[in-house]
Amino acid sequence: NEHQLILAIETSCDETAMAIIKDGREVLSNVVASQIESHKRFGGVVPEIASRHHIEQITVVLEETLKQAGITMDDVDAIAVTEGPGLVGALLIGVSAAKSLAFAHQKPLIGVHHIAGHIYANRLLKEFEFPLLSLVVSGGHTELILMDEHGQFEVIGETRDDAAGEAYDKVAKTLNLPYPGGPQIDRLAQEGEERFPFTRALINEDTYDFSFSGLKTAVMNTLHNAQQRGEEVSSADMAASFQASVVDVLVTKTYRAVKEYGVEQLIVAGGVAANQGLRKALHEKFTNEDVEVLIPPLHLCTDNAAMIGAAASIAYEQGHRAGLDLNANPSLSI
Ligand code: KG4
Ligand code: ZN
Repeated sequence: NEHQLILAIETSCDETAMAIIKDGREVLSNVVASQIESHKRFGGVVPEIASRHHIEQITVVLEETLKQAGITMDDVDAIAVTEGPGLVGALLIGVSAAKSLAFAHQKPLIGVHHIAGHIYANRLLKEFEFPLLSLVVSGGHTELILMDEHGQFEVIGETRDDAAGEAYDKVAKTLNLPYPGGPQIDRLAQEGEERFPFTRALINEDTYDFSFSGLKTAVMNTLHNAQQRGEEVSSADMAASFQASVVDVLVTKTYRAVKEYGVEQLIVAGGVAANQGLRKALHEKFTNEDVEVLIPPLHLCTDNAAMIGAAASIAYEQGHRAGLDLNANPSLSI
């Protein structure tokens, strides 16, 4: 077989996902079984429930993924799986499935870092040009990562407290919006105005680090104080004000890093990359700049296995192989 076919598995949080990736850049199938409905009534992901759903879904998702790609296990060259970071019980289901398949079908096994996956979602759009800067914004991560070559990641800045998506979800909860809150705030923000001038943490400081917990507290205090005075606060205005602060900080720091490192490409990755306010602000900021901006379509921003397959393709070419002792690592560093 002259083509490389990778079966990728992702179960780090609340999506049971598998994909077949051809030659690193072509998606033959990309199946995502979402558990959002099961976690909604708890206002967040319940790890125990997530694990149970992964177990129930994993063989169904595998069959569907192979069927949609029109291949069998015999055609697969390697099996890739997210080894971390994430919820340990959730990761374990994917890792166990990947190891069983690798053993039963005698295929090479590749462990993938979840964030490398988010970054490589962009290689499904376009070939990478180095050096490149990646803005990673998800439920668990907010990082600026520099790459000089494939598979090599240098974190130049990261959040000191809450991740951007985490701040979105917590603020949404405060506004009584359903889980996951990010898309809800995004939608509301488009109807509101920036009436509350929240501070932009660390924006002018000489660091690429971020901080979002103060902003979250500021939103809560503003709501609380208004309540005490018996005033109505518009959720849309609050969402717009919160989002303006987050987007301003992300775009300002990213712009500074793009300039300092003179990168060829800026790629945006992770669930919060789906944010309309952020996408618009980045496009506006970089229209006249000499850097190519890549942002995946929405279904490749949030968790999926196509991105894991894209990252694994390069690792496979570079000769990386995991043994059958591969283990889930909830706090794996990139
Ligand atoms: O990458 P992801 O699917 O899972 C993690 O690896 O964390 O990211 C999920 C996060 C959640 O916090 C969710 O609220 C946020 O991404 N998110 C958004 C939007 N869509 C998803 N945040 C802001 N605006 C959105 N449109
Ligand atoms: Zn993710």
